[in-house]
This record gives sequence, structure tokens and C-alpha cells, in this order.
Amino acid sequence: MGQLDGKVAVITGSTSGMGRDTAYLFAKEGAKVVVTGRNEERAKAVVDKIKADGGEAIYVIADTSDLSQVDRVYETTMATYGTCDILMNNAGKLSVTPIQQMTLEEWTAVFNVNVTSAMLLTQKFEPELKKNHGHVVNIASVAGCASHWGPIAYCTSKHAMVGMTEAMARELGPEVHVNGICPGAIRTAMLDSAGGEAACGGMIEMSPLKRIADGSEIATAALFLATDASSFIDGQLIRVDGGVDC
Ligand SMILES: NC(=O)c1ccc[n+]([C@@H]2O[C@H](COP(=O)([O-])OP(=O)(O)OC[C@H]3O[C@@H](n4cnc5c(N)ncnc54)[C@H](OP(=O)(O)O)[C@@H]3O)[C@@H](O)[C@H]2O)c1
Repeated sequence: MGQLDGKVAVITGSTSGMGRDTAYLFAKEGAKVVVTGRNEERAKAVVDKIKADGGEAIYVIADTSDLSQVDRVYETTMATYGTCDILMNNAGKLSVTPIQQMTLEEWTAVFNVNVTSAMLLTQKFEPELKKNHGHVVNIASVAGCASHWGPIAYCTSKHAMVGMTEAMARELGPEVHVNGICPGAIRTAMLDSAGGEAACGGMIEMSPLKRIADGSEIATAALFLATDASSFIDGQLIRVDGGVDC
């Protein structure tokens, strides 16, 4: 018997990285998984693998830098599975642009993907989540805890995700548990696009574990936060960062 048997889990940004690893783990634990992202080829590959392994999943293509596409995730989930028990707001857009070169267009796109679409999706699914005594898991970052881990738009958006998690917990309680994760350096496409391990600065050195992590190490933390194993934890951001002290 799986820990998520009968549950419907929507995981944004699950076409790659830690979202994809979480989709595989949640499906293995019995959840029906809604995979989202912009890249249809990768989305289909994730769903195909879940099905080949005996699980159940669909995908929804939506570019959430355009907020008009967010509803598609809600509508398709409801049309297919009729409810939602777990919402993992994971999709993220990295920005390394310093303030003097920042455009309002880039700033808005980062906030739409990293913050606003998460709020809109949570708003949409709130009645289902309340009815089901569900769970929201928000993916922030160590850049949401300390400013030196990220340039301005990314860092500010992740600080917003931390604050939003605490505020959401108050507004959605007592029925819905809302928690989050602040990952450190995780081996994903996003980290590769920023220069991989070499771009982690002092993070590896500062970490007692002296390494970066795999997405599966975020997936197991997400599973904990998406089940009753975390029944008295609410409004918290768990740092999964190898013990970086900042
Ligand atoms: N890797 C790290 O070291 C690290 C550290 C701290 C926090 N994080 C956070 O972890 C989360 C997952 O990132 P990751 O590291 O796993 O990176 P990733 O492998 O690049 O995955 C990012 C996911 O977000 C989706 N996404 C990006 N832009 C989107 C958009 N405009 N509309 C819809 N979906 C979009 C991508 O899907 P498509 O490409 O299909 O659109 C992909 O599935 C992000 O919130 C990130 O900020 C990562």
C-alpha cells in the first residue's frame, strides 16, 4: 500500500528536475499525478514513464509566465480527476540579471512563475484542498532565506515564496497544511544553466555535507510534507541544503 493511494497530486514544473523526481515518487506511492510545464516532449516522457511503471498521470502544458494559462492546470485537473489533494508549487524561473539591467518584463515573468501563479493555483484549488484536508508544498530556496545566494529578481521572489507559505498556512488552516522547502544546491537543469557545481560559490564548502544533492532528496522531503507524517507541522519552510549555515 502506498502512502498516497487515492490522492490527486498537482506538481507544477514537473517536466524536469526535482519536480519530475517528486512526480515519480508520488506516483510510486499511489498518487494520480498532474505533470505541468512548457515542454510537451518532456511532459509526455514523464507521464509515459509513470504509466510504464504502473502509475497514473496526465500532463498539462502551460507557460505560467503568462498568468492567463494558469487556469488550464486547474481546469484539466478537475476535468480529469475531479479534485486535488496535494498541490506542489514548484515551477521556477531563474534570473541572474543585476538591478541595473533588469527590465520590468523580466521581473514580471520571474514573479509570475515563481510567486503569482502559485498563489492563483492555490486560490483555485482551495475548496478542493479544504474538502480533502489536503497539503500544499511550496518550493522556495535558500535564496529565500539569505540574500547572498541569488541575484535580485530570483532572490526577492523566493523571499516572497517564504512569506506566502506562512501567510497561506494561516489562511487555509485548519483544514489544509501548508509548508515549503528551501533547497540548497540541487543537481538539475536550472543549476546547470547557472554554471553547475562551479557556480555554487561557497555553498558546498559551507555545507557540513560538502556536496550538492539530487532532486530525489527534495522529493522525499516533499513526500513527508504531503502526508500525515508531518501532521503537526504547518507554515514551515524546511531547509534541505546539506546544512549550509546562513
Ligand atoms: N536546482 C537548485 O539548485 C535549486 C535550488 C533552490 C531552489 N530551486 C527551485 O526548485 C524549483 C525546481 O527547479 P529545478 O532546480 O528542478 O529546475 P528545472 O529542472 O529547470 O525545473 C524547473 C521546472 O519549472 C518549469 N518551468 C520553468 N519556467 C516555467 C514557465 N514559464 N511556465 C511553466 N513551467 C515552467 C520547467 O518546465 P518547462 O521547462 O517544461 O517549462 C521545469 O519543469 C524551482 O522553483 C527552483 O527555483 C532550485
